[in-house]
Amino acid sequence: MLLENAKDLAYAAGKILRDKLDEDFNVEYKGEIDLVTDADKAAEHLLVSAITKAFPQHAILAEEGGKLGNADSDYLWVIDPLDGTTNFAHGVPYFSVSIALLEQSKPIIGVVYNPISDEMFAAEQGYGAWLNDRQIRVSKTDSLQKSLLCTGFPYDMHQPNNNIDNFSRLVTKTQGVLRLGSAALDLCYVACGRIDGFWEMDLKPWDMAAGALIVHEAGGLVTGISQPEFEIAKGEILASNGLIHQAMLEQLTARA
Ligand code: IPD
Ligand code: CA
Ligand code: CA
Repeated sequence: MLLENAKDLAYAAGKILRDKLDEDFNVEYKGEIDLVTDADKAAEHLLVSAITKAFPQHAILAEEGGKLGNADSDYLWVIDPLDGTTNFAHGVPYFSVSIALLEQSKPIIGVVYNPISDEMFAAEQGYGAWLNDRQIRVSKTDSLQKSLLCTGFPYDMHQPNNNIDNFSRLVTKTQGVLRLGSAALDLCYVACGRIDGFWEMDLKPWDMAAGALIVHEAGGLVTGISQPEFEIAKGEILASNGLIHQAMLEQLTARA
């Protein structure tokens, strides 16, 4: 039931994004290259209002609005109303709505919806992962040489931990390293086997919460990079089909 609630929310927010893309939208700068549009804000407003109405006893963590609701609740909705704002602002049809429900800090529901391709990725803990009506699994690629990877970069590219070294190292050892621009959707591409592995170093909980559960439920492996366990608040994530995980980790922890 909660999964259906989460999907309905993502469809409704996705419709706002699709409509806004056809109209004029405003772009503001949160940082040098970090954008926010009125589409992000309108989609988040819809999600927060609907969750607050349906689950007044729950807490919410939303990208633009921060923490809301009942701080003592065991249940936390973690939402990115528009993951891939830069793509959206340029009219590139690769962006998503990402919604996760955490129970005592563990994701139990995750949905990621691309409103342009109409692809709904969804998972419930213990019940597998789905792309629309089809159950999905990670790929069977078993070497770096045969793999297609994906990553992303932080908005502050002046910091030393900007991921360029890792990108250079892996791009020469694989069939390619994509930079698609929506971490939530990138994780779902790992889950359905389109790509074999994804990593990023400086993400927020709302970028990863839903996608990490979807990869896990699709039979993939999700860990940290500098530490073995994946932790939603730590910013780093390595997600793969499991078979190339160790090889990716060795490259990501190698000294330049
Ligand atoms: C960004 C996207 C991008 C990733 C960035 C994120 P936003 O989220 O997920 O792929 O590389 O690190 O911040 O700002 O478009 O919601
Ligand atoms: Ca995001
Ligand atoms: Ca966002």
